[in-house]
Amino acid sequence: MSFETFRSHEASAELAKQTVQSKKGPYALHFRRIRKLHRTTFARRTPIIGAVKQGNVSKNIIAENVKWAFSRACFEYSALCLCEGMQENGVLHTIDIKEELVDFQRKYFDKSPWGKQIVQHLGEALDIIPTINSKFDLVFIDADKENYINYFNMIVPKMNKGGIILSDNVLWSGKVLEKLDPNDTSTAVLLEYNQLLKNDSRIETVLLPIRDGLTVSRIL
Ligand SMILES: C[S@@+](CC[C@H](N)C(=O)[O-])C[C@H]1O[C@@H](n2cnc3c(N)ncnc32)[C@H](O)[C@@H]1O
Repeated sequence: MSFETFRSHEASAELAKQTVQSKKGPYALHFRRIRKLHRTTFARRTPIIGAVKQGNVSKNIIAENVKWAFSRACFEYSALCLCEGMQENGVLHTIDIKEELVDFQRKYFDKSPWGKQIVQHLGEALDIIPTINSKFDLVFIDADKENYINYFNMIVPKMNKGGIILSDNVLWSGKVLEKLDPNDTSTAVLLEYNQLLKNDSRIETVLLPIRDGLTVSRIL
């Protein structure tokens, strides 16, 4: 992890601390836990989306009316941030292929105000998505870039009108602007995916150039 990335994480932690100090009641505890989770995941050198970025996007911009959401994520740091903007009786589904993360995630979910509203799925996302019998208001796509287009095509028919698909890492450390390495399939797929988000008439998309690039696609 680069020094800049470390500094960026530190800045996030400081902003999260300020956020914590401005929160009261059970949410103060939640934000303290989010901060701890941020530190734990940073120590494990896992690229998680920043607390302030994710929290603000989910809470202030798009998630006000989210009832059914789903997040593909590992430490579920992002899932907890998404829950902040979820409706009181909403449900959030998470999918991850790593069995060893299930208990780790559950520990943090159960400490949050939304433990009972979060459903974990273990396995290959392409197998699991068709088995979730819900329509979604918000989907957060993260992780294996090679499948972004497959996830998108699988998810769009499961979205409610006006729903939002968030896609992380669409700038891929700037690699989408550099000469393409023929062996780099992740960047190749992301280039294609960004074009798809731009041209697909079922959605309208804005790219937020924050951190590693986050697109917000609204279902028309
Ligand atoms: C970068 S992490 C996601 C971080 C998460 N957004 C957060 O903030 O906590 C990527 C996760 O995707 C999972 N993953 C990768 N490929 C997958 C697949 N094909 N199906 C399900 N999960 C997958 C990995 O196990 C990893 O935990």
